[in-house]
Amino acid sequence: MTKLIDGKQVANDLKVQIASSVKKLIALGITPGIAVILVGDDPASQIYVRNKQRAAEKLGIDSEVIHLPATTSEEKVLAKIAALNANPAIDAILVQSPMPAQIDENRIQSAIVPEKDVDGFHPQNVGALFNNAQDYYPMANTPRGIMTLLNEYMPNLVGKKALVIGRSILVGRPMMAMLNNADATVTLAHRHTTNLEQLIADADVIVVAVGKPHFLKMSDVKADAVVIDVGINRLADGTLVGDVLDDMPDSEQLLTPVPGGVGPMTIATLMQTTVELARQHST
Ligand code: GUN
Repeated sequence: MTKLIDGKQVANDLKVQIASSVKKLIALGITPGIAVILVGDDPASQIYVRNKQRAAEKLGIDSEVIHLPATTSEEKVLAKIAALNANPAIDAILVQSPMPAQIDENRIQSAIVPEKDVDGFHPQNVGALFNNAQDYYPMANTPRGIMTLLNEYMPNLVGKKALVIGRSILVGRPMMAMLNNADATVTLAHRHTTNLEQLIADADVIVVAVGKPHFLKMSDVKADAVVIDVGINRLADGTLVGDVLDDMPDSEQLLTPVPGGVGPMTIATLMQTTVELARQHST
């Protein structure tokens, strides 16, 4: 078996730290609060939102889910965001993506005040990440959680060849910036990349986020590579698989499993960011 990266364990360790931070804040009279806006009835999104809410409750973080019908207008969502922006009990605002077609996600993300932008999608926070700003700002939780995993399994990224496949605002683009800030040499590949096989064969670290089952084979990557699989794909028979096929049973390569790799890290990191925002608001 390829060596599996234990995302659950690293996430649990992180949650122990978060729980202790929450206790300290509560002792000071500050209860961190997160609000999640969910528009429509996408089954996967409903599960993600429920998992986020459950994680918050377990850690002592207040959580509020605002579930709106799929036909909700953009104006209505903007009005909800304005109310949450003004509500001092709310430290973190998350609008679950994807949203129905009548809603412009960029406009929604820009309407959240940067100080409560727990996803790090507001242009001001994206800019801070790209500038590697040294003061505090929230950043996207999936790539940040991946950086926490890499810190355990490949702590020194300086000069490493990092390949990010997929350029979404949720994962690929912020991942590129975070690896760059850690002094890796980063390549961002996408559907028009022509020499992907060579890039894969050369990379020390690969982050795959394309949403295609078995898009990357472990037999195509280096013997000492670390591979992070962000994909969650449901096959026709109902099984969940990532974007990576583990066809190197006896190798020393490191791979995140699906499930149990990136997923638990994203949720734990979201809670970490919520607590950081609450602490920022208290000073
Ligand atoms: N949908 C899937 N992942 C995410 C995420 O990290 N944030 C938001 N807002 N929506 C998502």
